[in-house]
Amino acid sequence: MTAPTAPPSLLSALRPQNQDRLYDFYRDLRTADELRWDRTLNAWVATGHEVVTGTAGDPRFSSVRYPDIEAVSEELRPLARVLSRQMLYSDAPDHTRLRGLLSRAFTPRSVAALSGRIGEAVDRVLTRAAPTGRLDVVADLARPLPLAVICDLLGVPEADRPVLSAWSDPVAAAIGSSRLDAEESAAASRSMERMLDHLRTLLTRQGGSPAPHTLRALLAAGTDDADQDLDELLANCALLLIAGHETTTHFIGNAALALLRHPRAADELRARPELIPAAVEELLRYDSPVQLMLRRARHDLDLAGRRIAAGQAVLLVCGAANRDPAVFPDPDRLDFHRPGGRHVAFGYGPHFCLGAALARLEGTLVLEALLTRLPDWRLDTPAPTWQRSLNFRGLTTLPTTFTPHHATPTG
Ligand code: HEM
Repeated sequence: MTAPTAPPSLLSALRPQNQDRLYDFYRDLRTADELRWDRTLNAWVATGHEVVTGTAGDPRFSSVRYPDIEAVSEELRPLARVLSRQMLYSDAPDHTRLRGLLSRAFTPRSVAALSGRIGEAVDRVLTRAAPTGRLDVVADLARPLPLAVICDLLGVPEADRPVLSAWSDPVAAAIGSSRLDAEESAAASRSMERMLDHLRTLLTRQGGSPAPHTLRALLAAGTDDADQDLDELLANCALLLIAGHETTTHFIGNAALALLRHPRAADELRARPELIPAAVEELLRYDSPVQLMLRRARHDLDLAGRRIAAGQAVLLVCGAANRDPAVFPDPDRLDFHRPGGRHVAFGYGPHFCLGAALARLEGTLVLEALLTRLPDWRLDTPAPTWQRSLNFRGLTTLPTTFTPHHATPTG
């Protein structure tokens, strides 16, 4: 008799053969155990919906990513210092204070006001692509659009966007990686420092009174408060810029891929565009751009029948929770008629995504345009390639074709 084999480490999700069958891999992990110790990653791995939501909203856990900065490698330390000041990696009361301040940029009115600009930007890309019959959804649309949108919202001038994007990528790669070498760590630290220097200069050099919702308005509001320090505010502005575009880029690419692979579902949306908001939620559930959240036990505690020691990390696998059959019957089916509201693609609890309304708006406008403006839209590759990251799930390119035509810009 052979001994039962232990389930593989979550790290094996990065193997090329697992990337395109990621959700089968998660199903095997979840079926073996919804919460188990992963020796390779030195962390608990939670794959069931109940344990993921229970932990994300449980005050016995902390979101602090680097509890001991001095234990972090010298190369990574400058980045770790900045991340430690960001709301995403803070607990109450710092988290509550920072979230209150930064949420001023994301009022429903300020987000809705971007609708026209987003529509125009999508229109420009599709009008340019129309006579060629080709669109790389990632390179042509999903990469540039969310960066332009978040920069518009925050009042970052167009000329500054390419450098900000170039600095954002190594930082996002570092956040998404479980093992960084010294060179990658140093590159990420350097990029973050440059981004902060740039933001500091940008925000202090412009004259006049800042427009509402922009970074300058946030800074003005923050610096009215004597306890608020500029470096902390800048660290959080950098968070908005990074979180505001890497994730939405992946969402647009993953959603487009799912629709191209499910032509009947795409046809259903063409026939019934009123289903698009529900489709956005289902596509977020179906192939989530953010796959992991990290929490740490503040003290020894019991979770789902396990003893978790103080300081131990729990990796909450959103992508696995979103395919949990206990909550989503027939979870591998793309179905725009599911009762909504329970996916964890935007997280759960006090750190629930601050930019969810903006991401939903971008997703809705992009899907509408892709579905209606590209006749006979098809995938132009049998095997799209995924970025190598445990944390973020997104494609490197998504080449597509359609019938060339001469589009007149809408609006
Ligand atoms: C489809 C796109 C997006 C996805 C899937 C996504 C996903 C998430 C998730 C899962 C979290 C929770 C992380 C945790 O609890 O550890 C989060 C938090 C956050 N997101 Fe998003 N996000 C998206 C778009 C955006 C956008 C457009 C912004 C705009 C700036 C943004 C800003 C933030 C911020 C600031 C937080 C931290 C909130 C806090 O700590 O209270 N996200 N996001």
